[in-house]
Amino acid sequence: MAVLADRIANLGTENAFEVGKDIAKLEAQGRRIIKFNLGQPDFPSAPHLNKEAIRQIEAGNTGYVDPAGILGLRKAVSVHMEKTRGVEVDPACVVVTAGAKPPIGLTVLTYVNRGDEVVYPSPGFPIYESWVRFLGAVPVPLRLREERDFAFTPEELGDLITPKTKLVILNSPSNPTGGVLSEKDLEGIARVIREKASPAMRIYSDEIYEQILFDGEEHRSVVSEEGMQERTVVASGHSKGFGMTGWRLGWAVLPTPEEAKVFARFNVNTISCVPPFIQEAGRLAYESPETAKYVARNVAAFQERRDRIVPALNEIPGIRCRTPKGTFYVFPNVEGYCRDLGILDAHAALPDAERARTSPSKLLQMFLLYRHGIATLDRASFCRLGSEGQHYLRLSIANSMEELEAGVKAMADAAGDREGFAAFLTEAPHTK
Ligand SMILES: Cc1ncc(COP(=O)(O)O)c(C=O)c1O
Repeated sequence: MAVLADRIANLGTENAFEVGKDIAKLEAQGRRIIKFNLGQPDFPSAPHLNKEAIRQIEAGNTGYVDPAGILGLRKAVSVHMEKTRGVEVDPACVVVTAGAKPPIGLTVLTYVNRGDEVVYPSPGFPIYESWVRFLGAVPVPLRLREERDFAFTPEELGDLITPKTKLVILNSPSNPTGGVLSEKDLEGIARVIREKASPAMRIYSDEIYEQILFDGEEHRSVVSEEGMQERTVVASGHSKGFGMTGWRLGWAVLPTPEEAKVFARFNVNTISCVPPFIQEAGRLAYESPETAKYVARNVAAFQERRDRIVPALNEIPGIRCRTPKGTFYVFPNVEGYCRDLGILDAHAALPDAERARTSPSKLLQMFLLYRHGIATLDRASFCRLGSEGQHYLRLSIANSMEELEAGVKAMADAAGDREGFAAFLTEAPHTK
């Protein structure tokens, strides 16, 4: 009898957390690592929210609360949805979660049976693919294409929707590409869904980067399109725009109060509730005018870094990088860079099993980390299906300008270091 249940073999992970172990190992050896891997803002959470959480704890607001979330925060989310997406939301449709990650799993658990099809973006946040596979659903990657600024056409989506499609996952602004769906994209997506999808099919719209948009863009959601609110779960929260990743605070807006009750019941079965002092500070995040100033300052910093880093990356031979419209990620194509280093040939020459386990961009990620002290994430870290033959890295710009510039310079210095790569392959320090 095996110790672990069979299903555990299908539980994926998030390499953004995994690579931390390699970095810790190298730093313990005294190496300096330039971190392009961080999926969180490099700003501390806002002082007015920090103070509120402390005040709430000191006032004794430290017990269990409603598993669906405190009414004050659920009402604040309803107001926020009306202001930013133009939809009226009953607070009974809102469920507060421990970050924007839990509602991904809750959605798949709530709506998807074994054998149902789930369409999700690839490259995309790896947790989508993890849950789909874990629960025995059929993963259907929707390929985001660089030449279209990592968007897709309504027709491409329409071609993937079958009578067995139970869930379509959207993510705009997107991790890892920084792509943003336009008004026209959203209209087309809604049209195709109205025409082709079963009324029982749900959309999961992951909008956790909603505040981090550049060039004066405003956030748009599929939920605002005709006929979409009654079938869309909108998820967002405080981690990214409000720089509160470690607070673990997010929320989902469900199409009906009955569906929201299912999510709340999952909270009862797992965490019971999100801590009340966290939720009170989360409510203040929406209600205080201080928050908008904090967000605007941070977004301006991300935009300035983007404007510095993308042209610098494009100057490195073999790298081609689009300009992201949102988030704090850039997602350069590194095919030429891999070729110049001899990585494509080295990968092609690997024994079958080893070749299937890795990829050129994974080898590049490890080479840059172990040999040049630059931490990045490879293409397959963002959904494996659909990653075949694609050569990208995700670089986070949630780091100081000096570190980012040092990182780009180190990448330029590493370009064409064929000898270094050959030595890396022989020594394989990442396997030790
Ligand atoms: C697209 C996407 N969705 C959800 C999450 C999870 O956010 P949270 O930290 O609020 O759980 C992340 C975090 O990286 C993300 O990139």
